Amino acid sequence: LGNGLALTPPMGWNDWNAYGCNVSEQLVEQTALAMHNNGMQAAGYQYVNMDDCWMASSRDGGGNLVANSSKFPHGIAAVANYVHSLGLKFGIYEDAGTATCAGYPGSYGHEQQDANLFASWGVDYVKYDWCNIPFGNFSGQSHQQVAKTLYTRMRDALSATGRPIVFSMCNGWDGSVQPATWAGPVANLWRTTADIQPNFGSMLSNFHNTVGLAPYAGPGAWNDPDMLEIGNGMSATEDRAHFSLWAEMAAPLIEGGNLVNASSTTLSILTNRAVIAVDQDPLGKPGTQVSSSGGHDVLARQLSNGDVSVVLFNETGSTATISTTAAAIGKSGASSYTLTDLWSGATSTTTGTISASVPAHGAVMYRVAGGTTGTPPSGTVHAVGAGKC
Ligand code: DGJ
Repeated sequence: LGNGLALTPPMGWNDWNAYGCNVSEQLVEQTALAMHNNGMQAAGYQYVNMDDCWMASSRDGGGNLVANSSKFPHGIAAVANYVHSLGLKFGIYEDAGTATCAGYPGSYGHEQQDANLFASWGVDYVKYDWCNIPFGNFSGQSHQQVAKTLYTRMRDALSATGRPIVFSMCNGWDGSVQPATWAGPVANLWRTTADIQPNFGSMLSNFHNTVGLAPYAGPGAWNDPDMLEIGNGMSATEDRAHFSLWAEMAAPLIEGGNLVNASSTTLSILTNRAVIAVDQDPLGKPGTQVSSSGGHDVLARQLSNGDVSVVLFNETGSTATISTTAAAIGKSGASSYTLTDLWSGATSTTTGTISASVPAHGAVMYRVAGGTTGTPPSGTVHAVGAGKC
């Protein structure tokens, strides 16, 4: 979306994965303060986002959305002001239909009124869901056409407020909406998968459903394989693989865990600057899958300074040696290349082979420097992502 925002994938936090409907003023403010103090803000995390269930069950007499007064006794603007006072940005959730997925008032028919209210509160990011869509009002139109209409409507409403607001869209829940193929001019990011769960199988499935969509994404317009689950139940090895894969795919890094009580391991993963630098690389070209065999994947991503980041990912349950070559990732013209392991920090040189022993469900991530970078590998294109969100 050409609104000048999200030129690199947005980074932040959202309450849904860890708290579901239990959002509150206290949770949002305590989390923002934690991010301010625990190194996340300094590492680039910016958006503090509320998900579903922040509202009262009906609009007021003027048709305005109202916050749930026991969860938000001081109102939403006060929370936004607090978040802003820490130097962070504030995000909110709504839905394109008549009700949100949890049953609170949706924006259908109130798009401009809601956008104006959000702007008046100081909202910087809107996640716009896809539940309770009144398809009966669009007879004869495909779900994709309806999604184009309703997401474009909210894009224009947000734009008309004059406030810079990142626009995050859902993917439509029947697999026919395929936002990656058309949403570049409509949203800053679009979901590509079903809701993530804090287990390896779910994370793996979201990776598979997104990596083949690399050609559709770029500055201002990102594939969104859903929010991070770092610290929410996977092992540290799996969490590092999750973070490596999302960075390699240029995915938004919106953490979904409990940051008030985050462990030092969780924080060290979330604040790995070398991996974040790959995610945030200004060239904005998502990595592609240059090979995949027997659950052993090699991904490569071209970076703005001519380096290439490589992820060697082991989907299987046993340790494996995974290998590729400088040529296979688009590098040539040097007698040796420098590899920096982005998790250990160790550097080594190679004349061409890029290889590592990778633990079960783990990933090794290298930044490869030297020589010249040719046409980046086009990658294996999987089926376009589908699923409910
Ligand atoms: C479905 C979305 O995919 C989730 O991320 C979350 O926003 C829920 N809806 C909230 O109801």
